Amino acid sequence: MNNNIDWKNLSFAYLKTDYNVRCYYRNGKWGEVEVSSSENIEIHMASTCLHYGQEAFEGLKAFRGKDNKIRIFRMDENAKRLARSANGIMMAPVPVELFEKMALQVVELNKRFVPPYESGASLYLRPLLIGTEPRVGVAPSEEYLFVIFVTPVGPYFKEGFKLTNVAIMHNYDRAAPNGTGNIKIGGNYAASLKAGKIAKEKGYSAVLYLDSKEKKYIDECGPANFFGINKDGVYVTPESKSILPSITNMSLFQLAQDMGIKTERRPVKLEELGDFVEAGQCGTAAVISPVGRIDDLDTGISYEVSKGGEPGPISKKLYETLRGIQYGDIADKHNWVTIIE
Ligand code: PLP
Ligand code: COI
Repeated sequence: MNNNIDWKNLSFAYLKTDYNVRCYYRNGKWGEVEVSSSENIEIHMASTCLHYGQEAFEGLKAFRGKDNKIRIFRMDENAKRLARSANGIMMAPVPVELFEKMALQVVELNKRFVPPYESGASLYLRPLLIGTEPRVGVAPSEEYLFVIFVTPVGPYFKEGFKLTNVAIMHNYDRAAPNGTGNIKIGGNYAASLKAGKIAKEKGYSAVLYLDSKEKKYIDECGPANFFGINKDGVYVTPESKSILPSITNMSLFQLAQDMGIKTERRPVKLEELGDFVEAGQCGTAAVISPVGRIDDLDTGISYEVSKGGEPGPISKKLYETLRGIQYGDIADKHNWVTIIE
């Protein structure tokens, strides 16, 4: 293990590790996997990723259990989503088997950076796919680079499993109705930076985006999906063409069902926020970040979505169950975890 790292106080930030893994797509095929200890990549200044946004990424985590085994959570789903993202912006998809092989290899190579069980931290894997061919006219590249680097991380929101407030701002969109909101490409995040900064300056942890066509329905937060527990005890999460299908949300949905909680994935009207007694942002980085209040900065309406200033009981139970499976404390009955001995 590396004793110079303060595992318990890690934030969600980049820390140098020993190795990253890389693979190049040239002449219509993927090459051999390369192991690198350099933090830099050399690409042509006219690469399509730099000019025309041919860039997609993923985020997944590896956890060290009490038994010292390392568990990677649902990497097949991240692999499949990266392939969908690649297809969405005309990039060469990374085969699922190649993604999984490289993910296992990069964790194995950086084992000493997987935080100890007691810290509650994890190793974040950041797979990245970019178009590298020089092009001045707008057209897809025929050459790609796929990299996975890793970094040990703590909570995405510094508050961890504590309430934060989120803001609705009607004059900013992160994705268009028939655009790229349902895939994980850099452009969506560029589009969210300005509203995100304004919200943070006003003391909110994130923006809760509305559907960009009618501004009537809830979409998702800048870096995470959104769910609520309504007064009938139902787990409700938005259905929309412009939100990212979150693997965490999909897992919570299943866990809620396992607990006998009713679940609904459907369009969620803005005014329904008034029915929620619990709410949360959910994602790989965010895990569950429980929401206290949602302020609509344009109408001035505030929605209190938790009671008594504390995360609600269902959010807490879902959070503990998800983390329990990830760290190996709770049986993995859906086979979500890949164990590295
Ligand atoms: N929505 C957005 C916009 C995200 O960036 C993320 C993070 O990956 C999520 C949702 C959550 O997805 P997942 O649970 O697969 O990490
Ligand atoms: C993740 O949860 O893995 C994300 O990619 C969210 C954020 C860091 C952009």
